[in-house]
Amino acid sequence: MIVQSENLLLAKIQNDFIGLDTVYTLADGRKTLRVYLDSTASTLMMGAAHDMLEEFFEHYANSHSLLHFSAKITTSQYDWAHQRILSFLGADPEEYTCFFTGSGTTAGINRLARVFRDYRKDKDVVLVSIMEHHSNDLPHRKHADEVVHIPLKSHSSGQPGSLDKESLEENLKKYRDRVNYVAVTGISNVTGIINPIYDIAELAHDYGALVLIDGAQMAAHMPVQMSGHSNSSRNIDAFVFSGHKTYVPGSPGAVLCRKDILMAIEPEELGGGMVEDVFVDRYIIKDYFPDREEAGTPNIPGAIALAAAIEVLDRVGVENIFREEGILVDDAMERMKKNSDLIIYGETNSKKCSRAGSISFNIKGMHHGLVAAVLNDYFNIAVRNECFCAHPYVKELILDDMLDAITDIPDEEIEAKYKLLAGMVRVSFGIYNQPEDVDALSNALQEIVSRKDEFIKLYHVDENGNYVHNTFKMEKENNFSIPDLLDEYLNVK
Ligand code: ALA
Repeated sequence: MIVQSENLLLAKIQNDFIGLDTVYTLADGRKTLRVYLDSTASTLMMGAAHDMLEEFFEHYANSHSLLHFSAKITTSQYDWAHQRILSFLGADPEEYTCFFTGSGTTAGINRLARVFRDYRKDKDVVLVSIMEHHSNDLPHRKHADEVVHIPLKSHSSGQPGSLDKESLEENLKKYRDRVNYVAVTGISNVTGIINPIYDIAELAHDYGALVLIDGAQMAAHMPVQMSGHSNSSRNIDAFVFSGHKTYVPGSPGAVLCRKDILMAIEPEELGGGMVEDVFVDRYIIKDYFPDREEAGTPNIPGAIALAAAIEVLDRVGVENIFREEGILVDDAMERMKKNSDLIIYGETNSKKCSRAGSISFNIKGMHHGLVAAVLNDYFNIAVRNECFCAHPYVKELILDDMLDAITDIPDEEIEAKYKLLAGMVRVSFGIYNQPEDVDALSNALQEIVSRKDEFIKLYHVDENGNYVHNTFKMEKENNFSIPDLLDEYLNVK
């Protein structure tokens, strides 16, 4: 049961995001509020995190400085950020550390692929699922000798669901002592399908493998408990997520990892801040965390703003957020399923296969690029299209439609045609989305389907393969330019 104070806080927070009032001029001349349905790519910024950051900037300094007031404040708040995130993800601070890395989840997973490679040099196989984002596939390909893609559970509808645990177990048996770790996404960035991460951890551990969770889509949408399970083999060894998908653009990626793993090898990155002392012929690395893993001056404001957002999510209760967002996603799904011109990807029965955050689809007879452009230009609905950096998964999901589409072309042209058609449209949700956004989406999709031929004639494909309106120019109607704004700010004529 959501308690009253959490309910009030959720309602307050939902309306406190930067960009909820953004207005654009549409192709038909109307000026309307943007409907933001692209949170799986990047979430909007939480107002509370923004405001806390502004307050913090009054004190901002380098966390490597020690004795002045601002350095002390900065260091204490930066330390708090680490502890806040460990607690949010249910990771015991005695056993786990949290450290921040460069470009979001991708940087963290690249780092851990190197860590795990060095930690268990004798184990050369990594198991991933076929539904992974490239960032949880390619780094393992680079650093392991062999990466095996585990298939997905097949449902009676013919649509795939989450990772197939039976197949995972078969592969754990098949590769046995060679498996270093299993790396899977908590929630798919394409379909929003949720993986059973604790069951996966238990299986992996039963066969001596470690488990790494790509939490990019999970951290902001559902509760996570990394440690403290009554069956300790259900604990998670490492979890990575990113601030730009957790309501704080500009913040770094966060890695949570068992300390004993990190302590067993030399840190992957070296520089200032992570060493006790340096001589010309040797250096002594700190033996405590997170310093040991954070070479160089970190992204202090980003980490502090991320922790502020996480504090807010925790106060609201992530289980409440999960429930509320689930109502929206289910509603969107049910309404989309009624539209027979839509193909929705992945198992759509939420009782068999739960989702959070995202739904991907195509409209029959329309290219995904055209649908995304029309949603933007005529309905002010921001979505993402194409393959969402998860090419193998998207190709698998659309294979049947592709084969139907390409029966009449010669084999040598299939690849080119395949590349042209491959892709889908994704709608995705965040804490700030409201039932009215689902209404707007549902009405827009119905209108696009009924005016399909008309919309097709209004667009052409440019030299880059993008759908471009024949007359409406975004640059003219919705211009935004930092240099122009600076002219105004600096009073330059
Ligand atoms: N990986 C991000 C997405 O799924 C950018 O859209």
